[in-house]
Amino acid sequence: MKDTLGREITYLRISLTDLCNLRCVYCMPPEGTKKLQHRDILSFEEIEEIARAAVALGVRKIRLTGGEPLVRRGMVDLCRRLRAIPELKELALTTNGLLLPEMAADLKAAGVDRVNISLDTLNPDKYRRITRGGILEKALAGIQAAKDAGLAPIKLNCVLIGGFNDDEIPALAGLTMGEPVEVRFIELMPIGDAEAFGPEAYLPCDAVLERLPQLVPAGDNGGVAERYRLPGAAGAVGLIRPLSHCFCDRCDRLRLTADGQLKPCLHSREEIPLRGLHGEALRRQLEKAILHKPAQHGELSSASRSESARDMNQIGG
Ligand code: 5AD
Ligand code: SF4
Repeated sequence: MKDTLGREITYLRISLTDLCNLRCVYCMPPEGTKKLQHRDILSFEEIEEIARAAVALGVRKIRLTGGEPLVRRGMVDLCRRLRAIPELKELALTTNGLLLPEMAADLKAAGVDRVNISLDTLNPDKYRRITRGGILEKALAGIQAAKDAGLAPIKLNCVLIGGFNDDEIPALAGLTMGEPVEVRFIELMPIGDAEAFGPEAYLPCDAVLERLPQLVPAGDNGGVAERYRLPGAAGAVGLIRPLSHCFCDRCDRLRLTADGQLKPCLHSREEIPLRGLHGEALRRQLEKAILHKPAQHGELSSASRSESARDMNQIGG
């Protein structure tokens, strides 16, 4: 279905939980998040019903997010149920990868097509700092497990933070040389606890092009990333620039929070409750959300915070 600006809404991101086994500084407060009661989060039946209604309206791709989607018990079953929706073309996950060594093969068998894995640094010490205690080796083992299970093409998400990981741009981009992975540099967004960094942390993705002038454009694959390639590389480098290059005019997505609110825009306060709705009423509410999708979000910068009423771990990126 198209929104009022002609944008075809084909992509639904579903947050399965606010909880996470890490505490990334830009994503959540140090003490973690207030645990939602079990009854406050959507059951798998409710999620499946909403997903089916969204697919009936034209959604073709679903991504499961969190918090950390792999920490929700039984989520492999949910993947299997979602993958059984006939018109769905792609089921993907965004994960920090820590649980992939145990879960990658089951996810693949349940029909998950691909995974995006967060990786902001290749330095164990910095990884521990940015995730507030995480172990880099575990994330790397998760990436390897995803490759071994064939959850491809794998994308690695790297939030670019001035003064923290800009010195690693060549090393991170270098991961694309030998393997067909996509390393995506994402501009830090002023949401959640991102203010913990100074204003110099908001580094535009142009820093990647300046640091790696040999990057050549590699065509666009319909997503929000601009794609480039290092000469001779097997994989691609993606730039995601929510701050310096607004991509709202191409936005094709809706977000569903773990507690059943539909967010037509990541950076808007607006939330549309879906809980308790079925059949025709659910369809009408989904249509309303699509029609209410804002044309674009307000200003985002170090001085102008996202208007979202939630932290990233409550939305799912
Ligand atoms: N800015 C940019 N990206 C963020 N993410 C979480 N918080 C932020 C933020 N403040 C994204 C990262 C991470 C994914 C789970 O969400 O890409 O990998
Ligand atoms: Fe967890 Fe991802 Fe947020 Fe880090 S960015 S705390 S891994 S949800």
